[in-house]
Amino acid sequence: MDDWTFRAEQVTKVFGELRANDGITLQVRPGEVYGLLGPNGAGKTTLVKQVIGLLKPSSGSLTLGTYDLVEDPDAARQLCSYLPQAQMPIDSFKPHQVISLTGMIRGGDPVTVRQRSEEMIEALDIGEWRDTMGARLSGGIKRLVGFAMVTVWPGRVVILDEPTNDVDPRRRRLLWEQIRRLGDGGASVFLVTHNVLEAEKSVDRLAIINDGRLIAEGTPSSLKSEDRGRMRLQLMMVPGHATPEMPAFVHHHTRVGNNVMAAISEADSAHAIGWAQELMRLDEAEEYALAATTLEDVYIRMTGHVSEDMGGEVQA
Ligand SMILES: Nc1ncnc2c1ncn2[C@@H]1O[C@H](COP(=O)(O)OP(=O)(O)O)[C@@H](O)[C@H]1O
Ligand SMILES: [Mg+2]
Repeated sequence: MDDWTFRAEQVTKVFGELRANDGITLQVRPGEVYGLLGPNGAGKTTLVKQVIGLLKPSSGSLTLGTYDLVEDPDAARQLCSYLPQAQMPIDSFKPHQVISLTGMIRGGDPVTVRQRSEEMIEALDIGEWRDTMGARLSGGIKRLVGFAMVTVWPGRVVILDEPTNDVDPRRRRLLWEQIRRLGDGGASVFLVTHNVLEAEKSVDRLAIINDGRLIAEGTPSSLKSEDRGRMRLQLMMVPGHATPEMPAFVHHHTRVGNNVMAAISEADSAHAIGWAQELMRLDEAEEYALAATTLEDVYIRMTGHVSEDMGGEVQA
């Protein structure tokens, strides 16, 4: 069989009154790293749990090539590798053991699996804890071990639910490199994250999901195209100072802590700088910066949420 494209067609999952997934359609091709972004409660985990048979869709279909993953949950488990959002129960294992063990359970040959396990321990820089019992590992290291467990012998589809949670910034970069490698190795990588900025650099395509609905899909740059010609004016307010009244040229704005981000048109850059300098002169702002639009700005505009790492809600 040549077609290993993963397809979700009109997937709907209802919990009582709640439509946790509402008619979601998307495809992930082999070799592609596909990001699923959305705020807490958007329905991301609900969607991926249906792929591997932990939940059954209320309606719609989930297929991998000619395999019907809903009708054939055994095939789903065989063909898909899954890193859950919750931590793996590895308290009584040492990382190098449990990584090799899961690779062999998945059908990998012992020699290759052991070798690959050591390579991943090296690549994720967790060698220091190679022989430490799982119970004594920090949350971030546990998550990296979990990642190595599910990808040491990857399936056709690799589903990662918030793989970067609790991981320190340096090892997050190493993790993204390994995620990229999975795609380069031919897997369809389906990656759930709330970390918009990191996803922007690492995914081929992405979807934004909000209130159970898929509200945007495309490459990072195609999603940003609507914001082309826009800039972000970032104002660092004097701690505790109220948000200033927004001039007419500000399209929308967000405040997170003392940081105010205002979306403006490129053509208004000079006005924006003048305004920011005035706020500094009045001792309302401490500094300002004018920057290119990122995927984060698109995400804020579409979902009304600031990504969780920044924490906060959009105002007006
Ligand atoms: N088993 C369940 N029963 C009832 N409601 C659920 C269940 N699982 C998830 N939900 C609800 O579905 C919505 C989506 O949850 P989830 O898929 O976990 O969101 P996300 O992963 O995007 O944060 C939330 O409102 C959540 O409370
Ligand atoms: Mg989730």
